[in-house]
Amino acid sequence: MNDIGKIGFPQNFLWGSASAAYQVEGAWNEDGKGPSIWDTYTKNPGTTFQDTNGDVAVDHYHRYQEDVALMAEMGLKAYRFSIAWSRIYPEGRGEVNEKGLQFYDDLINELIKYDIEPIITIYHWDVPQALMESYGAWESREIIHDFDEYCVTLYKRYGDRVKYWITLNEQNVFIQLGYYAGLHPPGVKDSKRMYEANHIANLANAKSIQSFRRFVPDGKIGPSFAYSPIYPFDSHPENILAFENAEELNNHWWLDVYCWGRYPTTIWQYLEKNGLSPTIEDGDFDLLTYGRPDFIGVNYYRTGTVEMNPLSGGIGKGSMNTTGKKGTTEEYGIPGLFKSKKNPYLEATNWDWEIDSTGLRIGLRRLASRYHLPILITENGLGEFDKLEEDYQINDDYRIDYIRSHIKACEQAIQDGVQLIGYCTWSFTDVLSWLNGYQKRYGFVYVDRDDHSEKSLRRIKKKSFYWYKKVIESGGENL
Ligand code: NOJ
Repeated sequence: MNDIGKIGFPQNFLWGSASAAYQVEGAWNEDGKGPSIWDTYTKNPGTTFQDTNGDVAVDHYHRYQEDVALMAEMGLKAYRFSIAWSRIYPEGRGEVNEKGLQFYDDLINELIKYDIEPIITIYHWDVPQALMESYGAWESREIIHDFDEYCVTLYKRYGDRVKYWITLNEQNVFIQLGYYAGLHPPGVKDSKRMYEANHIANLANAKSIQSFRRFVPDGKIGPSFAYSPIYPFDSHPENILAFENAEELNNHWWLDVYCWGRYPTTIWQYLEKNGLSPTIEDGDFDLLTYGRPDFIGVNYYRTGTVEMNPLSGGIGKGSMNTTGKKGTTEEYGIPGLFKSKKNPYLEATNWDWEIDSTGLRIGLRRLASRYHLPILITENGLGEFDKLEEDYQINDDYRIDYIRSHIKACEQAIQDGVQLIGYCTWSFTDVLSWLNGYQKRYGFVYVDRDDHSEKSLRRIKKKSFYWYKKVIESGGENL
């Protein structure tokens, strides 16, 4: 299982890069756009690093042509971007905003002009504020219908030119951080409400796939999941049990529903016993079974390592490092199930994200063997401080090392039998990193702005830009 023979990457492999509307566009209230929950949440002092927000972000809304020209110069084959729901429906439903639709038309046409495959993410966390106010967004079944209407509007408008679609981005993250950790909008800390909202999101996801089959019969659709494969800390049977618990609760809880239309047994049982299982109505499982994806979108950054966590006195919620001060992440867990543990074999970033390219190979193999679906890597990349040198150079060799090792892992996974459609890095330009501000940079293209000032917003190619260009040119040979 090491490097026996070389298969390489398929001819039509989607060498891509990704972004999300709130993190790049700016123009938060222009051309008829309504506010999203992130537009309002980030205005509450103390919710994000240095109170940063996406009002201007990296101004992609006004500079998309310049950004797409840079993608073309790099030779990018695919660009994954998200659509801001409240640009299309300022009130979340009802009246459509033609100017919003036009913006994405222009972006898509610009990409196609350069032979870059557009990949649309329908929902990347920015539910319209109006829906939060009128019925609590993901906490009401009303959203299933409104989300479907929004999807159908997009299918009808862009389905002729866009083949690959992502439904929900990282449902496991926006639901857990929004309703359990209280770190994302709406800032709720309630497990029961989290599992209810999550079930509703599952139904909305399935419904949107059901409609897709009608309106874009030749297209391909799937959700993007934030996938951290789990390791047991060691071979102590109690730690293996903790690993099974974490793998089922953190991963299968979502993936089994997407791919099979049912929840995993032991965690369902655990939630039932604790009064946390979601309300199921007639027809829910039919819809879930019907709304299965064509591929699994994988956002991979790291693995997780766990050990047993006693029921009494065990640790619960930890805290996240959003400052870039290495070593400030606190362990977290669920008493009686598992708790996180630092993996002694892995280096970590300044935000304490463990770097593990082998974990990507392991994860891809687990998914392929369990679900037998093609996989599209919709995100992978390194968030770090970058230094703009005097002569406008950014020597981000650490990013090159990270991406190189992960591309190698993809190649090995393909040799292992994984059907990999493409690989999108996160991100193309630098972006706003939600809770972490602008100082945590991911792009191939540096954007001259910081947490306090928009500065010139000038685009500057990093060393990794030239490196990834060669990788694409050589079809992944020249790493
Ligand atoms: C996950 C999210 O989809 C994206 O928006 C975020 O910025 C990156 N990963 C990095 O955390």
